[in-house]
Amino acid sequence: MKIAVLKESRDGERRVAATPTLCAQWVKQGHEVAVETQAGIAANYTDEMYTLAGASIAPRVQVLNGSRLVLHVNPPTDAEIAELPEGVAFISMLYHRSNPAVADALNGRRVSAFSLDAIPRISRAQSMDVLSSQANLAGYKAVIKGAENLGKIFPMLMTAAGTITPAKVLIFGVGVAGLQAIATAKRLGAVVEATDVRPETKEQVESLGGKFIEVKGAEVGSEGGYAKEATEEYRQKQREAVNKSLAQADLVVTTAQVPGRKAPVLIDEEQLGMMKHGSVVVDMAAEQGGNCARTEAGKIIQVNGVTIIGATNLPSELPMNASELFAKNIDALLKLVAPKGELQFDMNDEIVQGCLVCHEGKVLLGETQKA
Ligand code: NAI
Repeated sequence: MKIAVLKESRDGERRVAATPTLCAQWVKQGHEVAVETQAGIAANYTDEMYTLAGASIAPRVQVLNGSRLVLHVNPPTDAEIAELPEGVAFISMLYHRSNPAVADALNGRRVSAFSLDAIPRISRAQSMDVLSSQANLAGYKAVIKGAENLGKIFPMLMTAAGTITPAKVLIFGVGVAGLQAIATAKRLGAVVEATDVRPETKEQVESLGGKFIEVKGAEVGSEGGYAKEATEEYRQKQREAVNKSLAQADLVVTTAQVPGRKAPVLIDEEQLGMMKHGSVVVDMAAEQGGNCARTEAGKIIQVNGVTIIGATNLPSELPMNASELFAKNIDALLKLVAPKGELQFDMNDEIVQGCLVCHEGKVLLGETQKA
């Protein structure tokens, strides 16, 4: 089948949905791959690299013409949806739960749309899980970005002029991003502490060399591997448990999320006031409202000497790795939905049910998904 790879239009986006390596594999499998001119250039994948991989390079209209499957990273704009050939299959992150209009618009063109951000987090789907692959890289980048904005180094340094003590890093939320943030900060030599509402993460924090901050006397519980929303009682106990570490921290990385909800505020105004002059907060939940009360998405601001980074698209700042993993996630999904080279999938498959947003003129959101 003809696979089209489009150039991203989101402001500042540097990722591309397919790398030359993956394109070469698809060509070898008998697919025709067409890549929009300069689609990969911001990730350092040149048009020449795609040509060498056996793909054709052309303007968007030609790339889309006759295509059976269209690949993209971000949700398409209305204008992009209008350009899609009727009945085509489309794979990208859609975030349709917070933007149901995108499903209606795609359905209006009878598109079969797969939303990568809705792939269920089950073992069989791990290789397709873009949220994990991208959050992993983002957790790394959050620490690097924090380090760049900190006026001190991470490791202990013994010099003739004296000893520098290691930086103190505090991580809120020990999911995919949080675990990578812990590992990265440790590798750079910081003393790391972390907390999470899920007590089972204690062991994971300790295995990475971090110290787990336990919140005693209140429980939140989890459902399907995800945390439930914390109660006010828990929030109070959490404040008591973390405030000493917060006051001593040089870098704080916040990654706490409860799916489908606004991000919980874990650093309020009063807690911000306790933080050291010169310390840095990297708020990874900025786009979901932020874990820090003063976060502004996409901005770096100063509040009483504390730098708050409202991180929005960290994976795009590592476009080579992010595109590489993203493309591999798509390839894994293709093995499920086009096992013999043509699109052919089982509508009863748990993964298909989880991520197929519309198909054959029907929006499946309400039927197969909890919105
Ligand atoms: P995840 O679901 O794997 O981890 C979130 C963790 O937060 C879970 O372990 C959960 O138990 C914990 N948590 C929930 N409520 C909490 C609370 N009140 N206190 C302490 N811990 C709490 O999510 P993942 O994939 O690690 O992503 C984390 C966040 O980073 C999400 O908000 C995600 O949207 C965001 N993200 C941001 C990026 C960026 O560029 N800014 C890139 C990738 C992810």
